[in-house]
Amino acid sequence: MESGNETHKDLIKVPENVKHFETKRSLNLFKKTKRYIPTGASSLMRTSSWDDYPIFMRRAKGTRMWDVDGNEYIDFLMAFGPLINGHANEKITAAVRKYIKNGDLYGTPNELEYKLAKEFKKFVRTQDMVNFALSGSDATFNALRIARAATGKDMILKFEGHYHGLHDYGAVSVEAPAPVAGLKWFPKSLPYSAGIPQGVMDTVVVSTWNDLGSLSKILRIRGNEIAAIIMEPIMANSTLVSPEPGYLKGVRELADEYNILLIFDEVITGFRVSEGGAQKLYGVTPDLSSWAKSLSNGYPISAISGKREYMDLIGNGVGYGGTYYGHPISLAASVANLKILETNEFEAYSHLGRLTRRMGRAIEEVAEDLNEPMFVNYETGLLTFVFTEQTRVTNYRDSIIMDWNKYKGVQQKMLQKGIYYHPDGAERIPLSTVHTDADVEVFLNALRDSIKDYNREN
Ligand SMILES: Cc1ncc(COP(=O)(O)O)c(C=O)c1O
Repeated sequence: MESGNETHKDLIKVPENVKHFETKRSLNLFKKTKRYIPTGASSLMRTSSWDDYPIFMRRAKGTRMWDVDGNEYIDFLMAFGPLINGHANEKITAAVRKYIKNGDLYGTPNELEYKLAKEFKKFVRTQDMVNFALSGSDATFNALRIARAATGKDMILKFEGHYHGLHDYGAVSVEAPAPVAGLKWFPKSLPYSAGIPQGVMDTVVVSTWNDLGSLSKILRIRGNEIAAIIMEPIMANSTLVSPEPGYLKGVRELADEYNILLIFDEVITGFRVSEGGAQKLYGVTPDLSSWAKSLSNGYPISAISGKREYMDLIGNGVGYGGTYYGHPISLAASVANLKILETNEFEAYSHLGRLTRRMGRAIEEVAEDLNEPMFVNYETGLLTFVFTEQTRVTNYRDSIIMDWNKYKGVQQKMLQKGIYYHPDGAERIPLSTVHTDADVEVFLNALRDSIKDYNREN
C-alpha cells in the first residue's frame, strides 16, 4: 500500500535534518506548559523517559510528523498504536467532516452504532455482541464488572507487566521492581500508582504470564474466589512477548475448570495483528474482550464484546454508559477505518504482516552484523527490539532485563535522523498500512548507524 505522493527522493531528505536539528521551541513550550500542567502533558507517557524534554508535534500526515521547530520525522510511535491507517487518512477525515455537519452529540441512540456493530462483527466473528465506550480503560473496567456480576465472585487475576488502563483494578503490577515483586510463581500485587486503596489490591491476584504452572498453583489456592482472568493475549506493554505454544489454550481450560471468565484485552492487538485480533490469530476464544486503539484510527472510542449471556447482563443488573460513550464522530471514523481495513478481503493485513516480518528480520540481521546482543520479536503490525543478553524472553521479569540507557541513547540518535519513536524500551513499535518499504529502509539504515555511533561513544 502506498503512503501517498511521496517518492523515494523525498525520503532521502530525512538525513538532512541532522544538520538543522534544532528543538528549541519544544523546550520552550515544555517549560511554559509545565507551569500549568503537571509534567507538561495530559498523559504521563508523553513526557516520561525523555531525559530533558519531549518533542512537541504540530502536524502529521501519513507516516510523517512535523514538530514545532519544523523538523520532519517518520513516525514509528503512531500515537502508541491507534493509527493503523496512518495520520489524517483522507477517507477517515472525509467521514468525520461529513458527520460533523450533522451536529456534535445527541444523547440518543443513533444509526452509526448499528453500522459499527455490524462492521465489528465482520472482523470479530468470535464474539456474539458488542457495546461501545470511550477509552481502553473504560472497556477493561466494564468487562471486569460484568465478569464479577456473572460469576458472583469479587476477585480478578491479572498478569505481571500487563496493562489494562489506569483504573484501580487495571493498574496493579504493571511494573514490579524485583526486591518487592515476590515469588515468580506467585508475584505480589503491587499498586502502579499512589492512591489505589489496599482493598482494591486485596481483590487483585497476580500471576506470571506464559507460565501455566504458576497459574494452576494460584488457582488451586484462590480459584474459587476469582471472577475473571484478564490478560493481553500478546504481551505488548513490556516489550512485545508472544504467547508460548498452547499457553492461551491452557489458560482457557483452567478458566473453565474454575468457573472463571476469560477476558482478552485486545486494546493493542485488536484490528492489528489480524482482523479478528489475537484471539483469531491464536485460535482461542475468550468470554469477553476489550478493544480500542486501531478500531478508530485515532478517535476516542473503545468496545467491549463477548458471549451473549454475559453481554446481556448490561441493563439487566449491570450498569453501563457514559455521556460520550459511542460518540457519533468516533463511530463515523471507526466505520470508515474498518471499511479501509476490510477492502479486498482484509488485504491490509497481508501488507502489514509482510512489512513487519521484513523489518523484524532486518533488525535481527543488524544485530548479527554488529555482533549486538538483542531481543527482537514481531507480530503483524507490532515489533520490539531491545538490547539484552537474554536469548529467551517469555514474561515480564525476562523483559525488563535490558540495557534501558542504550535503548534511550540509540533512540535519541534516531530522532536526530528523523525517526520518531518512544524512548522507553518497554514500548513496542506499531506499524501502519501506510508505512512503506522505503520508510522501513530509512529506519534500518538509521538504526545501524545509531547503534554504531552509540557504541563508539560509550
Ligand atoms: C492493553 C491495554 N489495555 C488498556 C489500555 C488503556 O487504554 P486507554 O489508554 O485508551 O485508556 C491500554 C493503553 O495503552 C493498553 O495498552
